[in-house]
Amino acid sequence: MKTLDEFINAQVVLKKVGEKKFRDPSWDFTTANTKILTHGIHSYPAMMIPQVARKSIKLWGKNAKVILDPFCGSGTVLVEAKIKNINSYGFDINPLAILLSKVKTTPIDPRILKRYFKELRENIRRKLDQFERGQLDVEVPNYFNIDYWFKPRVSKHLVIVKEEIWKIEDENIRDFFKVAFSETVRYVSNTRNSEHKLYRIPEEKLKDWNPDVYETFVKYAERNILKMAEFYNIAKDKTAFAKPMYHNVLEKADIEGVDLILTSPPYGDSKTTVAYGQFSRLSLQWMDFDYKLIRAIDKIALGGKPAKSLKHSIPSEKLDKVIHLIAEKDEKRAREVLSYFIDFYKASKNLDELLNEEGYVVFVVANRTVKGVRIPTDEIYVEIFESFGYEHEVTYVRAIPNKRMPHRVSPSNRKGETVETMAEENIVVLHKS
Ligand SMILES: C[S@@+](CC[C@H](N)C(=O)[O-])C[C@H]1O[C@@H](n2cnc3c(N)ncnc32)[C@H](O)[C@@H]1O
Repeated sequence: MKTLDEFINAQVVLKKVGEKKFRDPSWDFTTANTKILTHGIHSYPAMMIPQVARKSIKLWGKNAKVILDPFCGSGTVLVEAKIKNINSYGFDINPLAILLSKVKTTPIDPRILKRYFKELRENIRRKLDQFERGQLDVEVPNYFNIDYWFKPRVSKHLVIVKEEIWKIEDENIRDFFKVAFSETVRYVSNTRNSEHKLYRIPEEKLKDWNPDVYETFVKYAERNILKMAEFYNIAKDKTAFAKPMYHNVLEKADIEGVDLILTSPPYGDSKTTVAYGQFSRLSLQWMDFDYKLIRAIDKIALGGKPAKSLKHSIPSEKLDKVIHLIAEKDEKRAREVLSYFIDFYKASKNLDELLNEEGYVVFVVANRTVKGVRIPTDEIYVEIFESFGYEHEVTYVRAIPNKRMPHRVSPSNRKGETVETMAEENIVVLHKS
C-alpha cells in the first residue's frame, strides 16, 4: 500500500488535451484511502478528496499564510490546511457544513472523548431500557413530515440519544457527538441510504426496516473517536486557525489576506445537480435548525433562482455558445444553466477582492451535459478570471473513481431526463498577477 505522500509525488506521463490542459493520472488517487483523519467522520455530497486538497496546497499554497475555501462543504480543505499549520477560512450556506468543518478541524484528545463516551452510552442505554420497559414517556418532536421519514420507535430512540448528547456542557465535545448523531439520523431514517437526495425506501421493503438507533450511534461515535485520534496526533500542536463561517459567497465577506483560494464549487444549480439542502434536511431538523433556513439552502445556492431572460454580462464566449445551443432545444433549461453562471460570476468578483496579489485560485470542478450539450465549465471559469487579469497556469484532468460518482444521475424534478455527470473532473489553476 502506497503512503499518501508517495501517491502525491508519483511521476506519470501527462497527455495534452487542450490549451494548457493535461490529463494527469497522478491526480487520480484511484486506490487511496479518502477517509483518513477526520475526513472520515461524516458523509457529504461531492466531497473533495483529501489527496487533491493536499497536493494543491503543496503545489500552490507553499508560502500561503491564509487559505480560503468559499464553498467549504464538509471542510476537506480546512482540515488539510490545519495539518499544514496554515490559517484557513471556509464559507458555506449549509449549517451542517459549518458544523462538520468545525468539528473536523478542532483537535480533541481522544482520551477525553472516550471518557465522555463511556458515560454517554451508559446514560443512553439506561434511558432506552427504561423506555422499553414502559417506565419512560418519550414525546416525538413535531418536525415536518417526521412520520414519513422515521418509524415512531426510531424517532423515540433518537429523542433519547439526542437529549443525552445535548446535556453535555462542553460545546466542542457536544458538537463532536452531534456529528455521529447526524450520521445516525440519516442511516436510521426511511431514506435509501445510497442516495444524496431524499428518496423513501419502497413500501414493501419498509416493513422489514428496523434499524437499531443505539447500535448505529455507538458504531459511528466509536469510528469518529478513532478518526479524531489520528487527527489529534498530527494537529494537536498546530497553532493555525480554521474558521468555518455561515456565509453566502454572493455577499461581501469581512476577511482579508487570502493567499490561496482552493475550492470545489457546486458544478450546477442544486435543482438539477446536487441538492445539498435536501441531503442535510433530516439531520438539521433533528438538530433544531430553523426550518426556513434549512429550506433556503437549495434556493440561495448558486443558480437557485432561474434567470428571467438569456441576457447577461458574463465575459465568456464559450458560455454564450453553450447557452445558445441549449436554448435552441429548451429555452427554460438554458435560463436555468445561465443562472448558475450569473451567480458564479458575481461570486468570482467577490473572491477576487479577497485574494492577495500573486495569489492562486484553484477550482476543482466537473463538466456536465445538459440537453446533450456538454458545458465546458472549467473553460468558462478560465475566461471569467482572465477577464479580471488572471493568468491561466494549467488545468489538470483527473479521473473520478466510479464508486463515488454515478455516471448518470436523474434530477428529481425531471422525470425521465438524465444529466450526464462526469467520470472526470478538472483542477483549474489561475494566478493573480
Ligand atoms: C461541492 S460542495 C463542496 C464540498 C467540499 N469541498 C467537501 O470536501 O466537502 C459545494 C458546497 O457549496 C455550498 N454552496 C452553494 N452555494 C453557496 C453559496 N452561495 N455560498 C456559499 N456556499 C455555497 C454548498 O452548500 C456545498 O456545501
